[in-house]
Amino acid sequence: MIRSLGYTIYTGKTVFKDLNSFLKKQNYSGYFILCDENTLKHCLPTLITQCKELKNAEIFEIESGESSKSLQLCSQLWEALLSYNADKNALIINLGGGVISDLGGFIASVYKRGIDFINIPTSVLAMADASVGGKTGIDFAGLKNTIGTITQPKGVFVYPPFLETLPARHIANGMAEVYKMALISDKVLWKKLKPEKNFNQASVIKSIEHKNNIVKKDPYDKGVRKSLNFGHTIGHAIESVLLASGIDVLHGEAVVIGMICEAKLSFDKKLISKAECSEIIQILSQKFPLVPLPALLFGEIIKATINDKKNNKLQIRCTLLNRIGKYKIDVTVSPDQILDSLEYYNSLNA
Ligand code: GLY
Repeated sequence: MIRSLGYTIYTGKTVFKDLNSFLKKQNYSGYFILCDENTLKHCLPTLITQCKELKNAEIFEIESGESSKSLQLCSQLWEALLSYNADKNALIINLGGGVISDLGGFIASVYKRGIDFINIPTSVLAMADASVGGKTGIDFAGLKNTIGTITQPKGVFVYPPFLETLPARHIANGMAEVYKMALISDKVLWKKLKPEKNFNQASVIKSIEHKNNIVKKDPYDKGVRKSLNFGHTIGHAIESVLLASGIDVLHGEAVVIGMICEAKLSFDKKLISKAECSEIIQILSQKFPLVPLPALLFGEIIKATINDKKNNKLQIRCTLLNRIGKYKIDVTVSPDQILDSLEYYNSLNA
C-alpha cells in the first residue's frame, strides 16, 4: 500500500479485497468500466468475479491503441454516459493500459465538471507510469497529449497477474519506463536491470514508488516531475510522426529511441561522461529492439519537438542526464542538435 496525493495505490494479489472495501465505503450511484478488446477478454472476467458489486456495471469497450485518444471518441463516451444517466456520483473504472487511463481519466475529469475515477492498470506501462500521478489526456492535431488535465484518481489497484496475458512486445513497451526511472533517479535499480534477462515485477513496484515520490513533490509538473520527461521530448515527437505516417510504434519503443538520442545529447552538452553515455546506449540497444527511423521523417520529427508542450517560447527543452541516476531539467537544445542525435541513432542500426 502506497499513499499518494489523496488516494492510495494498492499492489499485490489481494487488491480486489481493497477494491471491494473502497467501493463499499464510497456508495457510488453507478459504475462505468472502460476497457478495450484485450482487457475485456483477459481482465474483465477476473474483475467482475472478484468484485460482485460490479456485476451490473456498464461496460464501455473501445479499440486498443493510441488512435482511441481522440476528441471524437471522448464525445461518444460522454454521450454514452449521458444516455445511461450517469450523475455526479458515478464512478469510471479504467481497466487497461496507458491509453485507457489517459482517456478514461480525461473524460471523467471534465464530465459534469468532474466525476470520480479509479485506475486498474493492466500493462507494465500503465502500472509503472500512466496510472499514477493524475495526468489525463488525449491527442489533438497530430500531437500527443495536447488536451488534458491533471486530476488524481480516487485509487489505483495494481494486480500483477494481469501481466501474465501480455505479449512480450507490450512487456518491453512498459519496461522502457522502468529503465527511464532508473536512469533519472536510481543507479542501484539501473545496476539491477543491467543483467536482467526478463521482466521483473519488483522493478515495476520500485518504479511506482519512485514515480509516486516525484509526483507528490510536484503534482503540477513545474519542477522535479519534469525529470520524468527524459527520453520523451524526442520520444513523443517520434511516436506522433511515425503513427501519423502509418508506422506501427508503441510509446515505449519511441521512448527508447528518445532515451538513446537524449543520452547522446547529454554527452554533447558535456553533462555526462563518454563512458556513461556509451553504457546507457549499449544497454538500451541490447534490451530493446531498435525500431528503424526513416530519415525522410527527420524534418517532421524536429518540427514536432518544437511543438512539444514542455517547451517555452518555441525553444526545444529536454530533460537530460547529469549522470546515471541524476537529471537536469529544461536544457535548451537546438534543432540541429536534435538532427545530429537522430542521425546518430540511425548509425547504430546501420
Ligand atoms: N508520464 C509522465 C508524468 O506522469 O509526469
